[in-house]
Amino acid sequence: MAGDRDDIGSAGKSVALEHRNTGEDGRRFSPSITRNREPVAEAFEQTMPLHGRILEIASGTGEHGAYLAERFTGLSWVYSDIDGISMESQRAWVGYGTKTGLKLDGPIIVDASADTWPGAEALAPFDGLFCANMVHIAPFEAAIGLMKGAGRLLSTGGKLFLYGPFARDGVIAPSNARFSEDLKRRDSSWGVRDLHREILPLALEAGLALDQVVEMPANNLSVIFSRSG
Ligand SMILES: C[S@@+](CC[C@H](N)C(=O)[O-])C[C@H]1O[C@@H](n2cnc3c(N)ncnc32)[C@H](O)[C@@H]1O
Repeated sequence: MAGDRDDIGSAGKSVALEHRNTGEDGRRFSPSITRNREPVAEAFEQTMPLHGRILEIASGTGEHGAYLAERFTGLSWVYSDIDGISMESQRAWVGYGTKTGLKLDGPIIVDASADTWPGAEALAPFDGLFCANMVHIAPFEAAIGLMKGAGRLLSTGGKLFLYGPFARDGVIAPSNARFSEDLKRRDSSWGVRDLHREILPLALEAGLALDQVVEMPANNLSVIFSRSG
C-alpha cells in the first residue's frame, strides 16, 4: 500500500478513501492510524524530545497525538487543523484526555500554507512539531508554509517530525507513484513530494537541518529535522 489511504477531507474537500468510525463522544478512529501508530511511536521515541510541548499540524482524527501523549507522558500535545470535522474529533480527544490524564490541548486553527499561524505563534516556542500525512494531500504551499513555520516556532534545537510517503531524489516506489497519480486526479495540486528535491531546499531556507530519515512500513518515511541556532 502506498502511504496511508486516509480520509483526506481538508479545506472543503471530503474525499474519504477510508471508512472512519466515530465513537459516542465524537472521537474519530481511522484504520490506517491503528496500523501505523506503533511504528510512528517507535520512530518518534528514537528521534524526538520526549518532554515538552509538541505542536501537531494537520492533526486529523487526533489519534496520533493521543497515542503519543499516552505513551510519552512528559509531552504536552497541541492539536491543530483547518478542517472543522477533524477539529471536532480533536476536541473530543481533548475531552477524553481531561478525563484520563492525557496532556492534550487545542485544537487551534493552523493553515500550514499561511504566512503566519496566529494561534500557534502565541504559544511558541515549541520543543517539537509533528505532521503526518499532510504534505502530499495539500497544495505545495502547505509544505512551504510548514517548513517556514517550523523555522519560526521551534525552539533552538527543537525538532520537526514528518511522516508520510516521499520520493527520494527522483526515485519513487511504484506503489507511491500510483498513489501520487491517484491524488493528482483528485486535485492537481496534490501529490507525493520529493524529499531531496522539494523538501530539503525548504528546510535549508528555514534554518532546519536534516537529522534522520527512518524507513517505515508501506513505503513511508519518518523525516526528522532540527532547528539550528
Ligand atoms: C490525510 S489527513 C492526515 C491526518 C493525520 N495527520 C493523520 O496522519 O491521520 C490530512 C490532514 O491535513 C489537513 N490539512 C490539509 N491542508 C492543510 C493545511 N493547509 N494546513 C493545515 N492542515 C491541512 C486536513 O484537514 C487533514 O486533517
